[in-house]
Amino acid sequence: MSLFSSSTVAIPDAVQVPRHVAIIMDGNGRWAKKRFMPRVAGHKRGLETVREIVQACVDLRVDYLTLFAFSSENWRRPQDEVSFLMQLFLRAMEREVNKLADNNIRLKIVGRLDRFEPQIAEMIEKSQARTAANNGLTLTIAADYGGRWDILQATQHMLKARPELVQGFEEGDLAPYLAMSYAPEPDLFIRTGGEQRISNFLLWQLAYSELYFTDTLWPDFDAKALKQAIASYQTRERRFGRTSEQLLDA
Ligand code: IPE
Ligand code: IPE
Ligand code: MG
Repeated sequence: MSLFSSSTVAIPDAVQVPRHVAIIMDGNGRWAKKRFMPRVAGHKRGLETVREIVQACVDLRVDYLTLFAFSSENWRRPQDEVSFLMQLFLRAMEREVNKLADNNIRLKIVGRLDRFEPQIAEMIEKSQARTAANNGLTLTIAADYGGRWDILQATQHMLKARPELVQGFEEGDLAPYLAMSYAPEPDLFIRTGGEQRISNFLLWQLAYSELYFTDTLWPDFDAKALKQAIASYQTRERRFGRTSEQLLDA
């Protein structure tokens, strides 16, 4: 069984500070374009926002922060931009892993991972191992991640491990094989950059997350903007299928 129950099977506790915040960091290219800079300058600047938001989540005592860094569809971008993003990811891990370790942050990378260059795959392994024992914030980077891939790979792994389930299985059987089985489902989903779509992010896990969209471009997003998103989350009534009256009685 998964450590955390599914929002569709059992009703989760409604918490003031989201335990798990998942973010689609969008708008880097447009941020750069507005300044007549190349798109990649926006990605570089976006990395600074990542630092600020990680620190803000530590300060706010968020337990899990998940950042969508590269989707399974982003391979479709121009080769130069893909290479730049890969290099940026590699350098960021090299440079930041000690700082993460010192701050008791556990780093996780989720995604296919088998399409990365060996150097990056090695660095992913090393960085995860180096921070595995930490019990502060769990920072997950979704890289070459796609929500449909996740559901398919989980199903395949489950059936390989438990062939008898081909006869039939339930949510609870599948959950432990999903890429983020170590985390509760996101309480709060944020997408910066103005688009209102999920873009194949955590399809399964976002079933009952509160959604927050902002026009702010990712390089302009900061701790104050995160607090605004959390303030919006705190006004939401999380009913999980029940009525308001039932919530008042509970
Ligand atoms: C998000 O910013 C970063 C990645 C997808 C890697 P974009 O690069 O998508 O920026 P826009 O949407 O073009 O502005
Ligand atoms: C989603 O952003 C993926 C990441 C932020 C990593 P995109 O900019 O790639 O999304 P679409 O293509 O506009 O939906
Ligand atoms: Mg985009």
